Amino acid sequence: MTDFNPEIPYNALPDLPPAAALIETTEILKQCIKARVALAELKQAAELIPNSAVLVNAIPLLEARASSEIENIVTTTDKLFEFADINEDRADAATKEALRYRTALYEGSKMVQRGMLTTDMAIQICSTIKGQELDIRSESGTRLKNRATGKVIYTPPEGQKLLQAMLDNWAEFMHRRTEFDPLVRLAVQHYQFEAIHPFADGNGRTGRILNILFLVQHGLLNSPILYLSRYIISNKAAYYRLLQNVTDEQEWLPWIMFILEGIEDTCSWTTDKIKAIRELMEHTAEYVQAKLPKIYTWELVELLFKQPYCRISNLVNSGVAKRQTASVYLKQLCDAGVLKEIKSGRENIFVHPKYIELLTGEENVWVYYDDAEAETVELAIQRH
Ligand SMILES: Nc1ncnc2c1ncn2[C@@H]1O[C@H](COP(=O)(O)OP(=O)(O)OP(=O)(O)O)[C@@H](O)[C@H]1O
Ligand SMILES: [Mg+2]
Repeated sequence: MTDFNPEIPYNALPDLPPAAALIETTEILKQCIKARVALAELKQAAELIPNSAVLVNAIPLLEARASSEIENIVTTTDKLFEFADINEDRADAATKEALRYRTALYEGSKMVQRGMLTTDMAIQICSTIKGQELDIRSESGTRLKNRATGKVIYTPPEGQKLLQAMLDNWAEFMHRRTEFDPLVRLAVQHYQFEAIHPFADGNGRTGRILNILFLVQHGLLNSPILYLSRYIISNKAAYYRLLQNVTDEQEWLPWIMFILEGIEDTCSWTTDKIKAIRELMEHTAEYVQAKLPKIYTWELVELLFKQPYCRISNLVNSGVAKRQTASVYLKQLCDAGVLKEIKSGRENIFVHPKYIELLTGEENVWVYYDDAEAETVELAIQRH
């Protein structure tokens, strides 16, 4: 046990890297392989969806909702979709905050395509999340407390110069320590970033975005479509405890295993979700083609997945239809049971409930648009 005192700023936080024996063992390397396989499968599954905007519009919203919920900012995926591609002024505060997380994830993925992850990028990401220009902490007094008891569990280092030096070491570790597996580096840098805790608030969310960006930067993902916060939110107690155990006991291995298992688990979940989305897209195309042959085009169907809260202007702007026809198309899709019209303020929005249910549900099941058809399929399966 080190002489760590949770009430005193942890200015003695050791620089990276820890001793190799502490972070790379046979067990860790085996788990790295599993996580890599799962990442490769996810990358491949994503390529099965013809238009990449479908996933890039949806999965970061799921990620934004879960990651913000860890901070007790509670919104729904429905609300996020409703305000996703319009001026979000009318949304409530929690929805706005989660949408800013999504924006930070997008901006971040553009930044890493241009260069390495840096401290400046972290500052920019946190500023976008918080909706104000931020800098590294210069004041003292930031403490992590147990929400229930109010007890101080961790006091991060203090002094802007010291924080800057620690962040330089953190960035250098990510880029230069290529002797370690990238996924081990990801887990180690995430602990370090949270332990440095460079900002007064938003460190958890910024750190979770950085994790996804790290994967994009290393070519392990093509776009920010990993829903990693799903795993963290359902294992939140372990997440906090394992972070603290690194500080208290230099217990890196359980922490690294936790992150690697999280990547594997989340990748498989996301891959399955993507496969189900693709099947639903195909079914929707067949159904619309059969029921509404006069209006069917693949672009129209794709739009219902790109914008599951669809407005007439979306059809017009994407060139699918002119204003008059767009409105007719959407009404016909409602009559056919694909869309549902709702009013939001003075606006008419056309929602794609089946897709929203698939995205937000734990299970990857959906029923056919036509119930009679669904029964037929079930009967056919039973007879086999
Ligand atoms: N014992 C600990 N040592 C270091 N970091 C910790 C510890 N416990 C929690 N953390 C990190 O601090 C984050 C919370 O910090 P902060 O409130 O600045 O971030 P946030 O994004 O506003 O919140 P949240 O992460 O809860 O959404 C946690 O998510 C976690 O990543
Ligand atoms: Mg916070």
